Amino acid sequence: MRQRSLLWLPAVFLGVLADDHAASSVSTLEFKNRFVESGIVPEVIAALDPSVSFYASYKAGDDGHDELLVPGSTLTVAEAAMPFEFSVENLNNATNVTAQTRFLIYLLDADAPDRNSPTARNQRHFLAGNYTLSGVNSTVLPSAQVLAVPDGQLRPFTPFIPPNPAPNTGVHRYIYALYIQPARFNTAGFETSGMEADIQNWNLSRWRTQLGLGPAIGATFFTIDTNTNSSGNATTSVGNGTSTGATILPGQASWVTMAALFASLLALL
Ligand SMILES: *[C@@H]1O[C@H](CO)[C@@H](O)[C@H](O)[C@H]1NC(C)=O
Ligand SMILES: *[C@@H]1O[C@H](CO)[C@@H](O)[C@H](O)[C@H]1NC(C)=O
Ligand SMILES: *[C@@H]1O[C@H](CO)[C@@H](O)[C@H](O)[C@H]1NC(C)=O
Ligand SMILES: *[C@@H]1O[C@H](CO)[C@@H](O)[C@H](O)[C@H]1NC(C)=O
Ligand SMILES: *[C@@H]1O[C@H](CO)[C@@H](O)[C@H](O)[C@H]1NC(C)=O
Ligand SMILES: *[C@@H]1O[C@H](CO)[C@@H](O)[C@H](O)[C@H]1NC(C)=O
Ligand SMILES: *[C@@H]1O[C@H](CO)[C@@H](O)[C@H](O)[C@H]1NC(C)=O
Ligand SMILES: *[C@@H]1O[C@H](CO)[C@@H](O)[C@H](O)[C@H]1NC(C)=O
Repeated sequence: MRQRSLLWLPAVFLGVLADDHAASSVSTLEFKNRFVESGIVPEVIAALDPSVSFYASYKAGDDGHDELLVPGSTLTVAEAAMPFEFSVENLNNATNVTAQTRFLIYLLDADAPDRNSPTARNQRHFLAGNYTLSGVNSTVLPSAQVLAVPDGQLRPFTPFIPPNPAPNTGVHRYIYALYIQPARFNTAGFETSGMEADIQNWNLSRWRTQLGLGPAIGATFFTIDTNTNSSGNATTSVGNGTSTGATILPGQASWVTMAALFASLLALL
């Protein structure tokens, strides 16, 4: 009897997890708060006041289902491979945006090569301009408009480098950000403003000045925990978590909550 009643428990938790697949909007205030909770603001970026909700969509889990990246998601190395879509909500809340506006998007690792000693901060994994409204909405989040570069015209300044942090180098924070592209880059690459190809020790404030950018209008982030087996690599020793500070990321918080729930249910049996 006792053993039988234990059996349904995992199904309940799978149900909880499955519900996570349904995408829902994240407010700009929530984006802003999660950047502060994660320590990214002010440690990596001095301030973030997003006017739009900016999303990436990626293939998640063993079944490779489509999932919306919400700020603070924990991804495996496999899931962190090139997102298949970028999208945006509330674009009319951003200043200087018209239907012709082009955008630029980057991805960086704030914690390269190691969270405890990020001597390469920031390490750029992707930078490309010329994104525009594609005219279609996201299949993952139907209220979000897809940003894309017309087929065959994507010429990234930094071609996508899939995140693959070394084992036992802590919880890496990977940040995507969205900026309005100054009109002169509609016909010229970033190198024309003197930007260098080197991807390490990328100084964001210097870069913004160099390119004449306003502040990011949207940003999101995910983490990769190199201290677990989540990288999909052969198990490295779980060892000693190197995550610093008292930050609890949303993903961790829900696991903690579920573990507590699980424990209390067990106690009832
Ligand atoms: C509109 O943008 C401003 C920042 O430019 C932000 O503070 C505000 O929360 C945004 N409003 C909505 C509804 O997203
Ligand atoms: C597409 O997105 C825009 C902007 O969020 C929204 O106004 C529109 O209703 C969406 N279209 C559909 C079919 O959901
Ligand atoms: C945008 O596209 C044009 C060609 O249509 C190209 O000349 C320019 O370098 C591109 N700009 C960026 C930032 O990729
Ligand atoms: C980044 O550049 C700014 C100004 O260009 C400078 O003040 C700052 O010290 C630089 N930051 C780092 C970490 O080198
Ligand atoms: C909007 O345009 C003005 C004037 O060109 C500029 O100063 C400001 O930084 C721009 N804002 C954004 C968010 O790009
Ligand atoms: C570690 O991850 C790999 C790939 O996902 C998996 O095959 C293996 O069983 C995992 N090992 C442990 C101990 O969880
Ligand atoms: C797994 O880890 C080893 C060394 O720790 C590394 O050489 C290898 O590239 C990693 N493989 C993957 C798929 O990350
Ligand atoms: C965990 O690592 C920190 C810093 O590397 C060290 O000071 C601490 O003693 C370690 N704790 C354990 C239990 O190994």
